[in-house]
Amino acid sequence: MTFDEEVLRDYFAQGPQDVSLDALDLGRIPRHVSIIMDGNGRWAKARGLDRSQGHVAGVESLREAVTTSVRLGIDVLSCYAFSTENWNRPQREVDLLMGLFAKTLVAELPLFAQENVRLRFLGDIDALPAKTRNTFVRGLDETAGNTGMTFALAVNYGSRAEIVRAARILAERAQAGEVSPAEFTPEMLSGELYTAGLPDPDLLIRTSGELRLSNYLLWQLAYTEMYVTDVLWPDFDKWDYLRALVAYQARDRRFGGVVAR
Ligand code: FPP
Repeated sequence: MTFDEEVLRDYFAQGPQDVSLDALDLGRIPRHVSIIMDGNGRWAKARGLDRSQGHVAGVESLREAVTTSVRLGIDVLSCYAFSTENWNRPQREVDLLMGLFAKTLVAELPLFAQENVRLRFLGDIDALPAKTRNTFVRGLDETAGNTGMTFALAVNYGSRAEIVRAARILAERAQAGEVSPAEFTPEMLSGELYTAGLPDPDLLIRTSGELRLSNYLLWQLAYTEMYVTDVLWPDFDKWDYLRALVAYQARDRRFGGVVAR
């Protein structure tokens, strides 16, 4: 994806001491960045606020991450917003998150239009409360013609369930005689995942210091570089994002081989 270097320099002007856009090789921007947005609850608790306030603050960080990704010319930004296990949270928090997703989606439609962002969802969105599902469908419809960055939001997402679902689809095709199980390939399974057609993530960022994958994109992350920061999601800003990209570019990606770059 292309980017306007002048706009980008302006966007990253006057930053903190330790990081600057000059540290980034603009010719090696990752295609797909994925983020596990974590730490909203702890951010709120540290301020004596209700957990819900952490999620509300997290929306601002998400908006900034979308804008930053667009400025950098990233092709795909994916973010983990709600896992299949998150239904086990107190009902009040689940309701708040579902309401926040719906409200945010509608509120951000002008931003998506302005930035030419195409929306996509990873996960079983049919099982979401009607209001949330309807706004998601509206978001998909309204952004379907956009040709810029893809913003993929994982909601009611669980990686194992996703892989089982894909395996089931392949098994059904085999049962129907369309393909023999002996001909199954990784590409065929990739093609039945929620991420079908998207490149695998180059970089996974996880905030709040947790060293876990939490059932997120287990198949797609096979060769992804990981970056974990202690920064809590509501505090994560464009400079933290830049730090992650600089760290990513310092890595040697070998994809299991021996030749460095
Ligand atoms: C993790 O923090 C965050 C979530 C489970 C929800 C993510 C939601 C947002 C960032 C809000 C905005 C999102 C959209 C799509 C509008 P946590 O609650 O697990 O924090 P903790 O680990 O500190 O308790």
